[in-house]
Amino acid sequence: MAEYDFDVLVIGAGPGGYVAAIRAAQLGLKTACAESRETLGGTCLNVGCIPSKALLHASELFEEAHDGTLAKWGVKTQGVELDLGAMHAGRQEAIKGLTGGIEFLFKKNKVEWLKGRATFQDAHTVAVGDRTVTAKNVIIATGSSVTPLPGVTVDQQRVVDSTGALELNEVPSHLVVIGGGVIGLELGSVWKRLGAKVTVVEYLEQIFPGMDGEIRKDAQRIFKKQGFEFKLGTKVTGAQATGSGVTLTVEPAAGGAPETIEASHVLVSIGRRPNTEGLGLDKIGLQLNQRHQIETDHDFRTAVDGVWAIGDVIPGPMLAHKAEDEGIAVAENIAGQTGIVNHDVIPSVVYTMPEIAGVGLTEEQAREKGEVKVGKFPMAGNSRAKTNREADGWVKVVADAKTDRVLGVWMINAVAGTMIAQAAQAMEFGATSEDIAYTCHAHPTHSEALKEAAMAVLGKPIHV
Ligand code: FAD
Ligand code: NAI
Repeated sequence: MAEYDFDVLVIGAGPGGYVAAIRAAQLGLKTACAESRETLGGTCLNVGCIPSKALLHASELFEEAHDGTLAKWGVKTQGVELDLGAMHAGRQEAIKGLTGGIEFLFKKNKVEWLKGRATFQDAHTVAVGDRTVTAKNVIIATGSSVTPLPGVTVDQQRVVDSTGALELNEVPSHLVVIGGGVIGLELGSVWKRLGAKVTVVEYLEQIFPGMDGEIRKDAQRIFKKQGFEFKLGTKVTGAQATGSGVTLTVEPAAGGAPETIEASHVLVSIGRRPNTEGLGLDKIGLQLNQRHQIETDHDFRTAVDGVWAIGDVIPGPMLAHKAEDEGIAVAENIAGQTGIVNHDVIPSVVYTMPEIAGVGLTEEQAREKGEVKVGKFPMAGNSRAKTNREADGWVKVVADAKTDRVLGVWMINAVAGTMIAQAAQAMEFGATSEDIAYTCHAHPTHSEALKEAAMAVLGKPIHV
């Protein structure tokens, strides 16, 4: 009889966990995945990446029909109306299709789904619901959940977190977003396009902490032009429900006189924190770091033998594709192969319009490390963007002054989320800006702006 029930038990079926489980099974390991949600796919498929993108897509279509954008292209529309119910049905259809798809992939690859919450009994024994199983290797992929804000109670009606903001059954008259990060601007965009007034209250002096400085400045300018209001350097100290909404008390982050803001709805989006509660980590002697994350080595081994961790629960950007790549790598490492994730080349994308994307070092980080050359190209000089009336934004390439190696790429434009993949691939291959500049790009595409930004590093763009 086998020593363990499974070679690999994955806890959590988000993009980290389900990918790890499928790869482990592909590599011939007997694999189970514990998930307490009713559907697979984790935060990303159920209440994150996918439903938010469904609403971003639908709300953009509505806005284009409603605000005259389509009419300016000669597509006349009359009596454009919002059917919020149908929009939510579209979101649910996307979730159902994709979460069901993971269930199909589990069956196809013979990954057993253990339904219920998992708790360690010891490093190789885990209770899941009313079952207890043993596994030679356990991968913790429990993800993250919303960071609460003291003094502001989420009721998912008037005061919502990202999950509630995906499900509102009326368009807020005034949505106040607490936190000028990715969720705030993406979900703020959804409701603004559908007619809400949106005010972003951000603790810092600029939105999008961690991104390239020019991105932070220009993104805010573009959002302001779209009608977003910003209260920067401001902290929320309390929220009081009123008959028709919420009264927020705010004050300058640096201290000063408090004031109030009347909102119909409030979105709390000040970050996410790792899910480790109730896992029984004390039973296996696994300590958390100061940010309540599980530390691992480059192979995703924790300090406890046989226990591995990946995704939002470990340090690094809380992104689905980072979790997925770690899922593949950890399974390959468990199977005795060499699974590697290059954490220096992980793209990040904000799916607003225009989209915002970056990979590698910001210009500021690169300058701190040494001498750099920077090339920037405006989308107004790109024929396709100009033709499509998408001339807002630019592409920037940051390269090492001596070696010309690309250190970072940042961009704002309509298809930045797709374009950034090319930059990531070039960086993964150790490309120089000259390599990108002398690669033939199809015309007319937005991607030519990346080529021209690389040409600008060399001082020779054509279309500016
Ligand atoms: P998760 O996806 O959080 O999955 C963990 C799973 O583990 C959950 O299903 C949970 O139920 C389960 N679990 C936890 N504890 C236990 C337990 N003890 N027993 C059993 N099961 C357990 N990222 C992007 O890259 N692109 C985007 O566009 C994007 N959009 C987002 C939009 C929103 C609104 C939000 C909230 C997040 C978004 N993210 C996006 C972030 C992305 O969702 C996460 O980075 C990603 O889901 C992390 O994957 P994970 O596998 O580590 O964890
Ligand atoms: P975030 O970290 O992106 O932004 C949080 C913002 O809130 C920051 O600007 C921060 O300065 C601010 N803040 C913190 N405390 C505050 C306070 N008390 N008052 C006012 N502002 C405060 O976090 P967010 O937007 O909640 O998203 C969580 C995570 O989900 C992100 O880190 C991201 O990794 C992931 N995500 C990714 C998406 C994507 O890839 N497109 C989309 C949505 C989420």
